[in-house]
Amino acid sequence: MSYTARTGLAVVIAVATAGTVHAMSVTRSPFGETPEGTPVYEYTLKNDAGMAVDVLTYGGIVQSIRVPDRNGRVEDVALGFDRLKPYLDNGPYFGALIGRYGNRIDGGTFTLDGETYHVPTNDGDNALHGGPEGFDSRVWQARAIEAPNRVGVELSLLSRDGDMGFPGDLAVTVRYTLNQHNDLRIHYTAISDAPTVVNLTNHTYFNLAGAGEGDVLDQVAMINADRYTPVDTSLIPTGSLAGVEGTPFDFRTPTRIGAHIRDDDPQLARTEPDQGGYDHNWVLNTGGSLDALAARVSDPVSGRTLTMRTTEPGVQFYTGNFLDGSLEGKNGKTYGHWGGFTLETQHFPDAPNHPDFPSTRIEPGEPYHQTTVFHFSP
Ligand code: GLA
Repeated sequence: MSYTARTGLAVVIAVATAGTVHAMSVTRSPFGETPEGTPVYEYTLKNDAGMAVDVLTYGGIVQSIRVPDRNGRVEDVALGFDRLKPYLDNGPYFGALIGRYGNRIDGGTFTLDGETYHVPTNDGDNALHGGPEGFDSRVWQARAIEAPNRVGVELSLLSRDGDMGFPGDLAVTVRYTLNQHNDLRIHYTAISDAPTVVNLTNHTYFNLAGAGEGDVLDQVAMINADRYTPVDTSLIPTGSLAGVEGTPFDFRTPTRIGAHIRDDDPQLARTEPDQGGYDHNWVLNTGGSLDALAARVSDPVSGRTLTMRTTEPGVQFYTGNFLDGSLEGKNGKTYGHWGGFTLETQHFPDAPNHPDFPSTRIEPGEPYHQTTVFHFSP
């Protein structure tokens, strides 16, 4: 299916500022249907700085992010698939919106107000990314956002009491917006009618050279964090906050992702049996401020740079250690080991079982809000 064939229902908005007309647009096109016959749509957000983002109503998936490099050459920097089918087959969470609980819960079990809850396990003995039928595999309600200085899509979902074992009816709204400054902003809100735990994130894998263009080891990362949360053999935090100083986890100054990824370090070896890599939560120094830079990754060859700011206290920096080139991605490309990195902004993994970690508990009627901004520059 050609790209033009898919952009049927175009809703183009023009915004006039100080005599200049900027055209941003949000368009919707069909993207197949689920086995139950529910239609899935793709929303395409475009600015006139040359950036475009595709979001699916299935799983709230960021299906592509097209950004220019320093010579104006546009590449899709997000890993994913061309068609709905492979997304339905439970891939590695390419681009997905994750909930109710991003990352792991030990044994899928936690206690709230003396009551024990069980989330079905889907990662050895642990629950990962909200369990086997998490928010990444739901069809979300969607509507276009057309504001004077940004376009976007608002996704919403009602997760019923007991959904994947979590208590409380939870109404979730996620807004993806794009502005003229190449900011892709993700704003998450949720409200529950009972005490519950929530940890929403997005699982986009980036390769700033272009999805499928080799590994990301030569891309240069900065993570504004003095500490990280070391894990046990099943990737559950041990509970300590370890200093990054003198370890392969020190990205406080810009460092090649590959500089220490092969170091003989028990934490790196724990993440994947063959070659390991990063799959850890960094404790951000940013105090939840969107004014502070949380992370920056750049590709020296293309010049593309991604900066990330977030209200969250942590970020899972994962280097695609479970990718093995076996899935056919967009344009027939494949994604090998270390073929992408994620910046999953979050509360810390397994926080419901670690009273010392920032709490993921929300109270009835008290809204949950988190924001993450990914900014792209050539
Ligand atoms: C997260 C986890 C990884 C892995 C990926 C999905 O990043 O921390 O261990 O499960 O999701 O493959």
